[in-house]
Amino acid sequence: MKNKSLVSINDYTKDEQLRILDLAEKFEKKPVQTILKDHVIASLFFEPSTRTRLSFESAVNRLGGKIVGFSEASNTSIKKGESLRDTILTVANYSDLIIMRNPIEGSARFASELSHVPIINAGDGANQHPTQTLLDLYSIKKTQGTLDNLHIAMVGDLKYGRTIHSLVIALCNFNTTFHLVSPVELKLPSSVKMHIKENKLAYHQYTEMDEVLPKADILYMTRIQQERFSDPLEYERIKNVYNLHHDMILNTKDNFRVLHPLPRVSEININVDKSPKAYYFEQALNGVFVRQALITSILGIA
Ligand code: CP
Repeated sequence: MKNKSLVSINDYTKDEQLRILDLAEKFEKKPVQTILKDHVIASLFFEPSTRTRLSFESAVNRLGGKIVGFSEASNTSIKKGESLRDTILTVANYSDLIIMRNPIEGSARFASELSHVPIINAGDGANQHPTQTLLDLYSIKKTQGTLDNLHIAMVGDLKYGRTIHSLVIALCNFNTTFHLVSPVELKLPSSVKMHIKENKLAYHQYTEMDEVLPKADILYMTRIQQERFSDPLEYERIKNVYNLHHDMILNTKDNFRVLHPLPRVSEININVDKSPKAYYFEQALNGVFVRQALITSILGIA
C-alpha cells in the first residue's frame, strides 16, 4: 500500500482492506505513539466536516505528526481564482500525503493523477467516501465478530449518500445480503447496484423500514443529503421520511446494531442513543484508529 492513493474503495483489494482493519486493532490498543514525528500531512477540506477532518487530525496528532491545511477554501488563494490543479501541485510540495474533501465528483481522482504525493479521498461530492467505509467495516467486524454472510439494511438517501456507495462496493466481497430502504426518488444508483449483481448477491428494495428490522444484523441509517438536491421543495417533501425510535428496535436480533456515518438530522430519534444497540458514536471513534492505520500504511511506516 506504500504511496498508494485511496480515491475509490476498490483501489484497495479485499486483502489490503483487511490489513488496514488488522492494523487499526493495534492502534486501538496503543493510539498514542511518535511514529509520524517526521511527517507533514495536508488536510484540504473544501466542504464542511466534523468527524472526517477532526478524526484525521486527531489520528495524526496522536502519532506525533504535523497537520497543515484548511477547513474552508474561502481563506485560500482559490478565492483569488487559483485552480484545484495549482492548489494540489503547490500543497504536494509542502506535505507527504494529502487528505482532500471536495464537492466535485472525480476531483480526488484528478488530484491523484497530478500529485507526486498520495491522495486520500475524504469524500468527493455524492461519489465515494472510502475512509468512512474502512471504519464502517471495522465497526461491523467489531460488533459482529465477522464481515461474512451478514444481512445489512441501508436506510435513507441511497442515491446521494457517498458512504453508502463505497460501503456497498466493499461489502460485495463478503457475501452480504443487502436490504435497501429508500424513497423511490432516492434509490441506489444502478452504477452501484451493478456491483451487487456482478457478484451475484441478493438485494431487496423497500420504501419502509419496519419489515427489514427483524432480519437485519446491521441497520446503516443515513441522512437525506440536503446539499445535493437541486430542488429545495423536493428536499422539504422527503426530509423527514424516516425516523427510527427506540421502540422500533426492541424486537431485533441480539447482535443487531445501529450504525450511522453521522451527522444525523431527524432520522434517528435521540431516544435510540440509550440503547446498547446504538453504535454510531463508537463508530465515529473507530475512525481515529482506522485512519492511523491507513496513513501509516500509505507512508510505509507501519
Ligand atoms: N461521516 C462523515 O463524513 O462526517 P463529517 O461530514 O462530519 O466528516
